Amino acid sequence: MSSQLTEALQEWERLDKDFQQIQESHRLYLQKLDEVSKTQSSFTASIARHRKYLKDLSQSLNKCSKGLTGENAKKVERIKGHIQQRPNIFSEMESFLPKKNGIYLSLVLGSVNVNLLSKQSKAAYKDEYEKFKLGVTVILLLLTFICQFLVTYRFVDALVNFLLVWYYCTLTIRESVLISNGSRIKGWWVFHHYISTFLSGVMLTWPDGELYQMFRSQFLTYCLYQGFVQCLQYYYQSGCLYRLKALGERHNLDLTVEGFQSWMWRGLTFLLPFLFFGHFWQLFNSVTLFRMARLPQCKEWQVLICGFSFLVLFAGNFFTTLAVVRHKRKTKNQGKSKGL
Ligand code: COA
Repeated sequence: MSSQLTEALQEWERLDKDFQQIQESHRLYLQKLDEVSKTQSSFTASIARHRKYLKDLSQSLNKCSKGLTGENAKKVERIKGHIQQRPNIFSEMESFLPKKNGIYLSLVLGSVNVNLLSKQSKAAYKDEYEKFKLGVTVILLLLTFICQFLVTYRFVDALVNFLLVWYYCTLTIRESVLISNGSRIKGWWVFHHYISTFLSGVMLTWPDGELYQMFRSQFLTYCLYQGFVQCLQYYYQSGCLYRLKALGERHNLDLTVEGFQSWMWRGLTFLLPFLFFGHFWQLFNSVTLFRMARLPQCKEWQVLICGFSFLVLFAGNFFTTLAVVRHKRKTKNQGKSKGL
């Protein structure tokens, strides 16, 4: 037997042993998956059961606490306080369990489970979402720049609008997945992307003509500005994410970590003037379109619809941003008064 064949046979024996091990690992892996799946089902069921018991208990506490005084009244109030905290704790727990998709995700993806089961994968998904936004924004900036300064073809404009429709649609899906994984994105920001999808769709159907050309330059400059603000937002959001990851926690930090808070406030103070300027540009777009709608040569329905969409975007973005800043300031002051 040649030495080459001996070596090959030895190698085969080694590989065969390796293969047996792989098969064993696979068996163990399937067994663990089965265990995880059973634990998930029983855990979900016990949370649901506990919720129901708590609901019944708080109903009976409400009934029997009427007219209570002294120590007993205090005891009941304490229990009620604990009961009120439980839903948040259960939601946090449930964000690590598979759950049924909402209507939108069920329609788009079907009944596939989108819940990521570890903190790391949730943070990685969020990170990827921010990078995706930045990547598409850069492409959009380039295309918009070409439309604004280099070529004036309706077809290229349509490409920009088509990309915008696809981008915003994708964002609504990704954001629904993020929410399903415990993200606290406010409903408005998701709704804002539905409206933006609609707006870009309407822009896509706007036929070339005198009115389209009247608005084109203003719209493209607005898109360039929005892309620029999106890059600043990326810097802020990824900075927050990076710091929170480094601190090893994501939520409940608003009150506790001073270093993070001061970075966030600096970032926010820098970002806010750009954001508000963008919001007023949306209002300006809306006013321009409403004025155009009153011109005798205006026959296109797109003018009014786009004007209305920009107005809704302005109002929602402006007031939600104000509410976010007010809430953050309140939390900051609460933190200070608690001496944190
Ligand atoms: N789009 C998507 N997600 C958003 C978001 C937005 N505009 N604003 C906040 N979020 C997310 C955050 O990433 C965070 O997610 P997490 O729970 O997964 O960590 C969650 O919502 C809660 O964020 P919050 O603490 O309320 O705000 P923030 O500090 O992250 O951001 C602003 C505050 C004001 C900077 C941000 O809301 C923003 O950029 N708003 C303006 C958007 C806008 O007007 N765009 C148009 C520009 S012309």
